[in-house]
Amino acid sequence: MRGRFISIEGGEAVGKSTQIRLLAEWVKRQGREITLTREPGGTDSAEAIRKLLLEGGADRWNARSEALLFAAARADHVARLIRPAVEAGGWVISDRFVDSSRAYQGVAGGLGDEAILALHRFGSEGYLPDRTILLELPADEAARRATARDGANSDRIGGRDAEYHARVVAAFRAFAEAEPERFRTIDASGSPDHVHARIVTALQPLMA
Ligand code: TMP
Repeated sequence: MRGRFISIEGGEAVGKSTQIRLLAEWVKRQGREITLTREPGGTDSAEAIRKLLLEGGADRWNARSEALLFAAARADHVARLIRPAVEAGGWVISDRFVDSSRAYQGVAGGLGDEAILALHRFGSEGYLPDRTILLELPADEAARRATARDGANSDRIGGRDAEYHARVVAAFRAFAEAEPERFRTIDASGSPDHVHARIVTALQPLMA
């Protein structure tokens, strides 16, 4: 049976963690090996880079160094964890992947999509998920959930202003429209079980 690589994307506080947990249980029930991972991070080295990226002052990194660090973390993650697990026939589910760099650093951060794709070609040989689930929530609901979850303790990137996050959300939507083969856009409102059912419908064909 073929291994599969699935990324879960979206703006802040759209419920990714809950859905990833439910999805992992579903994959296990299908009798498949499952590796759950996240970005930035997923390997020891990439988790070390995660700390550099998410902790510290807002101006700790400039836009270019930030994009390079995300790409470096991803290169390690793909080479040492994602590719080997997929090649061994397992399912890998990653909480965020390159589309987050495209949306946050490329579009919202102003570096441009082509720059991020070029870093990805170099760092990770352009490796892409078999399917990317984009979770979408109305902006006011996402903001409410982010405040309930993080209060005043958001990380270096989550704490950026509402305009930045609006650009992120719009960018994700544009990517999904441009690549309908790879993306499935899922309405993340309603109960976790309802959202989970929508995701299973989107991924079921990959189980074959
Ligand atoms: P998380 O809150 O989903 O754990 O993600 C950590 C933060 O890092 C979140 O604000 C999104 C941001 N991020 C980027 O800006 N670029 C990236 O490539 C990734 C993977 C995450």
